[in-house]
Amino acid sequence: MSMLPRPVCQRLEKAARQAAAKSYSPYSRFKVGAAVLAGSGKIYAGCNVENASYGLCNCAERTAIFSAIAAGERRITAVAVYTPTKALTRPCGACRQVIHEFGPKATIISVGQSRARIETTLDVLLPGAFGPKNLKRQKL
Ligand code: THU
Repeated sequence: MSMLPRPVCQRLEKAARQAAAKSYSPYSRFKVGAAVLAGSGKIYAGCNVENASYGLCNCAERTAIFSAIAAGERRITAVAVYTPTKALTRPCGACRQVIHEFGPKATIISVGQSRARIETTLDVLLPGAFGPKNLKRQKL
């Protein structure tokens, strides 16, 4: 059972699937699509964008999150990740940290070629995270 209402979950997963079709991944040939459910209830999608200078590749999750933030959102409720593979993909470490900034308890959904799906939460994937609270000024 999902923590999200079923229609919302389905829209989110569909947006992630559609985004993977736009993936620019000529080097890894690993297509990824992501969709973010933001505080306003709107969904923002993104794909991985690779670069000939390999270290500059951007994951689908961060493309989607940055697009949501640039649209004025400040909260992330859920993230769906789609890869056209049998094995399901969970966000990489860098993306977990970026999700934490806006959704420390966000629901994380992974979907692939089959009907299998994983649903977890960011605090499970990144326990003891460093975040905005750590930068609150200390009383001296
Ligand atoms: N990638 C993502 O977009 N999201 C993930 O969660 C894992 C990895 C991308 C980065 C790179 O373009 C390709 O997959 C292979 O690592």
